[in-house]
Amino acid sequence: MWNKLFKHLFHSYLTDFLILAFLAAAAIIIIVPSPVNMIISLTLILTVIVFILLFAKMRKRELSQILKSISGIRRNTYSAPKDIILGAELKELEDEIKLMFGKMLEDIAYLKKLEKMRTEFLANVSHELRTPIFTIQGYLETLIDGAIVDNAVNRKFLEKAALHTISLSNLVNDLIDISMIESGEMRMSFRYFNINDFLMEMVGEMKQAATDKNLELIFIPPRSNLQLLGDKTRLKQVMSNLILNAVKYTDAGKIEISVEEGTKTADIIVADTGIGIPEEDTDRIFERFYRVDKARSRAVGGTGLGLAIVKHIVEAHNSKIYLKSRVNEGSEFRFGLKK
Ligand SMILES: Nc1ncnc2c1ncn2[C@@H]1O[C@H](COP(=O)(O)OP(=O)(O)OP(=O)(O)O)[C@@H](O)[C@H]1O
Ligand SMILES: [Mg+2]
Repeated sequence: MWNKLFKHLFHSYLTDFLILAFLAAAAIIIIVPSPVNMIISLTLILTVIVFILLFAKMRKRELSQILKSISGIRRNTYSAPKDIILGAELKELEDEIKLMFGKMLEDIAYLKKLEKMRTEFLANVSHELRTPIFTIQGYLETLIDGAIVDNAVNRKFLEKAALHTISLSNLVNDLIDISMIESGEMRMSFRYFNINDFLMEMVGEMKQAATDKNLELIFIPPRSNLQLLGDKTRLKQVMSNLILNAVKYTDAGKIEISVEEGTKTADIIVADTGIGIPEEDTDRIFERFYRVDKARSRAVGGTGLGLAIVKHIVEAHNSKIYLKSRVNEGSEFRFGLKK
């Protein structure tokens, strides 16, 4: 304790003390210029000089310690903040440097993660683009090599090639959407709209896709004058993604669209009796390109971008998308909109 107190006094009052001692020595000589006083003054001045030297030495040691730790950070000699030690006198500075180093390590880790995500994204994009392009190329080459005059296959091959150009353009559109949303370029236009009319229209548009798979598409309407706030165009994208997913990943049964009205918000719910999503995948399916069963998803024309777009749009409405699912029983997606 004494040690600490002395250090504190030494640090905080040293300069004041030195100036005072110097002035006192000068005053003694000027006021009473006797030999004894001369000796006292000289002793005082010498003491002051010794203190200054001591102080300077201590500061130099501290500065070199600080310099050592900073250059250590620059040279990557520390692997964790706890490795930085400046000693008890510089505890506060040591803590600050530790915090700064910790933050720097976090930032670097985050940048590395972003870089990894960017590389993965590029790899995924090229992979997904390659599949339809190669297929189209294959059909066209076969046609050029002679199949064009073979009436048994020529039309079929052209139709297949055309089908793949559709999935190619869907993929490119999804990619444009994703990059626009992520770069903040997608402008939202929020207006109140009648949710009943909106969902009725959506269900009408999706009916055929469900009927083609012998699935029932049911709409349970909310009260007819319920108005919700949102960007209708973007919400159309959300609903068509959710309903088409429900159709794609349901082999038998029904898809039910409903609205649950709360006091300030209303939830829009898309539920199906499909294959369901295993619990370990429920967080990841909103990631770009993530598919539970890649083979199955690709077979039904999926690239794994739909739910990433859905999540972004829902979040742009200051809301969140929730998923409840059980394998082989079905899935339920829901998100809220302001009333
Ligand atoms: N209703 C659902 N039932 C079961 N699995 C689903 C359902 N919706 C989504 N999934 C799973 O989540 C994955 C991601 O869905 P998402 O809509 O992002 O991609 P996708 O449907 O494969 O392709 P895209 O929508 O880009 O055409 C799907 O591949 C599928 O495995
Ligand atoms: Mg989808």
